[in-house]
Amino acid sequence: KRVVVFISGGGSNMMALVAAAKAPGFPAEIVGVISDKADAGGLEKAAAEGISTFAFVRKDYTSKEAHEAAIFEALDRLSPDILCLAGYMRLLSATFIQRYEGRMINIHPSLLPLFPGLHTHQRAIDAGMRITGCTVHFVTEGMDEGPAIGQAAVPILSGDTADTLAARVLTVEHQLYPQALRLFAEGKVRMEGGKAVGTGVS
Ligand code: GRF
Repeated sequence: KRVVVFISGGGSNMMALVAAAKAPGFPAEIVGVISDKADAGGLEKAAAEGISTFAFVRKDYTSKEAHEAAIFEALDRLSPDILCLAGYMRLLSATFIQRYEGRMINIHPSLLPLFPGLHTHQRAIDAGMRITGCTVHFVTEGMDEGPAIGQAAVPILSGDTADTLAARVLTVEHQLYPQALRLFAEGKVRMEGGKAVGTGVS
């Protein structure tokens, strides 16, 4: 399966997918990395791996539609089977999501449906949670609402700050995302009737 990864920053999840895809027999190859930030650190890392990279900077376009049209043009050339959002900090339009629904997944640093949105680690700490984690889910129109393919739990330790917790969760994200992508690329899980059907990761 051909995979395009979307990033906005360092791309550590993207690099975990790149590393996993090198394993013989892995059912997906990363054929492109797209960012909305020209200076996203992940673009250099992907280019160093010989992967095609593209930056589409929102302010270079007169509208969200024009911005997304440029992205669609690149995607049409890359012909991906699967889109993986990985630290992509931009909300996609309904048009975009409808175009790829069922073929687009995302990783979110909480145990959805708890803590959708931003600042998930601080919110989990503030709520007195003793456990948090990360979720790989299908992307649907509601933000962070799509059916989950996999989840992994991470303990919140006394004295944790948002930063120490984020670092602990990120390590687990790097294991969960490749496992979830493998299952999806192998067809062992799919989105049907708004639900994830098949085997998941947990
Ligand atoms: C990660 O916590 C991921 O869960 C969130 O963005 C953060 C940074 O990801 N979506 P990365 O290092 O850019 O992959």
